[in-house]
Amino acid sequence: MENIQHFLESKTILVTGSTGFLGKLLVEKILRIQPNVKKFYLLLRAPDGDSAMQRMQSEVVGKELFKDVRKKWGKDFDSFISEKLIPVPGDVSSQNLGVEEVNLREEMWKDIDIIVNSAATTDFYERYDTALNINSMGVLNVVKFAMKCVKLKMLLHVSTAYVCGEGEGVIVERELYPGQTLRATSSKLDFEIEMKLAAQKLDDLRAQGISEALIASDMKDFGIQRAKKFGWPNTYVFTKAMGEMCIGQYKDSLPTVIIRPTMITSTYNEPFPGWIEGLRTIDSVVVGHGKGKITCFLADPACIMDMIPGDMLINAMIVAMVAHANQCFSKSTKNNNIYHVGSSLRNPISFSMLHQFSYSYFTKNPLISMDGKPIKITKGTVLSNMPTFRIYMLIRYLLPLQMLQLLSKAFPSSFRDLYVNSMRKFNLVTRLVQLYKPYVLFKGIFDDTNSERLREKAREIFNYVEVDLFNFDPKCIDWKDYLINIHFPGVKKFVIKK
Ligand SMILES: NC(=O)c1ccc[n+]([C@@H]2O[C@H](COP(=O)([O-])OP(=O)(O)OC[C@H]3O[C@@H](n4cnc5c(N)ncnc54)[C@H](OP(=O)(O)O)[C@@H]3O)[C@@H](O)[C@H]2O)c1
Repeated sequence: MENIQHFLESKTILVTGSTGFLGKLLVEKILRIQPNVKKFYLLLRAPDGDSAMQRMQSEVVGKELFKDVRKKWGKDFDSFISEKLIPVPGDVSSQNLGVEEVNLREEMWKDIDIIVNSAATTDFYERYDTALNINSMGVLNVVKFAMKCVKLKMLLHVSTAYVCGEGEGVIVERELYPGQTLRATSSKLDFEIEMKLAAQKLDDLRAQGISEALIASDMKDFGIQRAKKFGWPNTYVFTKAMGEMCIGQYKDSLPTVIIRPTMITSTYNEPFPGWIEGLRTIDSVVVGHGKGKITCFLADPACIMDMIPGDMLINAMIVAMVAHANQCFSKSTKNNNIYHVGSSLRNPISFSMLHQFSYSYFTKNPLISMDGKPIKITKGTVLSNMPTFRIYMLIRYLLPLQMLQLLSKAFPSSFRDLYVNSMRKFNLVTRLVQLYKPYVLFKGIFDDTNSERLREKAREIFNYVEVDLFNFDPKCIDWKDYLINIHFPGVKKFVIKK
């Protein structure tokens, strides 16, 4: 097996989703550790080349994440970037990935060695048509594009561990086969039919002449309805599951790897600890707690919160890419190209520990309110199941809200603001509970036998410097130290900002 840096040398890589959190981490790491990579094509949603270039400059290389690469190249940074990165206006939901310029498309088919598909809509309650087009049809479009790349060595697709739905016990790295559902139903799951149903639903709604806002809301509900029908908890994971099914059909004709991360958190180490972008997964709850807006949590205290730092995930992706392109593993072993990348099996952390660390951090390092005062937080109440949560909501919110509504009608100047604020708080808690219920009451542990085998292979083949440079062993994480000294400060610095 070639050494990793040698493998990456002179390679041409197409990345989708590079304006996203994960995509830009990948681009940064490769540019930093192997500046002799031939080039990257970055597929960006933009109407033309100039706008794609602008997005690449401001949303990818312009970020603090690139500070080490920028420092290394100094005054030559811009020429280095323009030699290595080619922004391509496109869209995964279109045929040929929306790459309209024929010459560019043909050049890409001739040049590309590796494709990393990280593009997705990660909104759990996305409109059904949008989620299908990006997370399912988008994957099929990437596969079809990959089939035309004459020297392709690897198509690496980023999925999610939660394509398993609300699985329990040990969840193995097993392929999802076309048509598979997570609950017994008389209807067959057929991706083509789902596409038709979404289009038909949209036509029906438009024919009713209702507003775009109502159409969007109905299309979101429709996604949840279809997801639940087949056993998935939300539109995001359902359409990601169908995306995997689309790849599965081509696995014999294309070298593919499917990476299934759990919840991705800020960088553990590289290029510097604590880098993160956007409020994602558990952080919405953590920040809500730090701001004093969330005082009640629906969560099983023993529930394992499966997290993996973003840089470790990137390392796993690169090692898997190189190992499979070099055919290190027998093709005849079933499911050997599917990787759970998480921590629940080898270094679990429970909700109660996460809660304890978050409380301790925000007590010692309070967020500052709009009026400049430190926000004092309480530990809050943890409700470990839905029945107790419903009773709590009734007593704590619904009954007082009804009273406040009456008072605000009678005395608007005294009670209206209080009513509106209480209503907002109620809506926030309800929305977060709906979003995170499947995860905070999750009873599964992600088996990562394939990832462990990959780590063993890496230790066998690479020297210790490379093993360290591409570390993705969750056992090395000290959760208390990572959360209190790296992750929460990172969220505060890069996400909350002020
Ligand atoms: N974040 C997590 O905790 C997590 C956990 C498990 C799995 N994952 C998976 O990891 C991958 C990366 O996630 P992330 O956190 O980096 O997401 P992200 O920050 O939301 O980025 C998503 C990226 O996809 C791009 N994209 C969306 N629709 C597109 C389209 N039609 N054509 C081209 N590009 C499109 C976005 O571009 P725009 O800038 O144009 O919107 C953006 O660059 C996703 O596949 C996600 O499902 C994430």
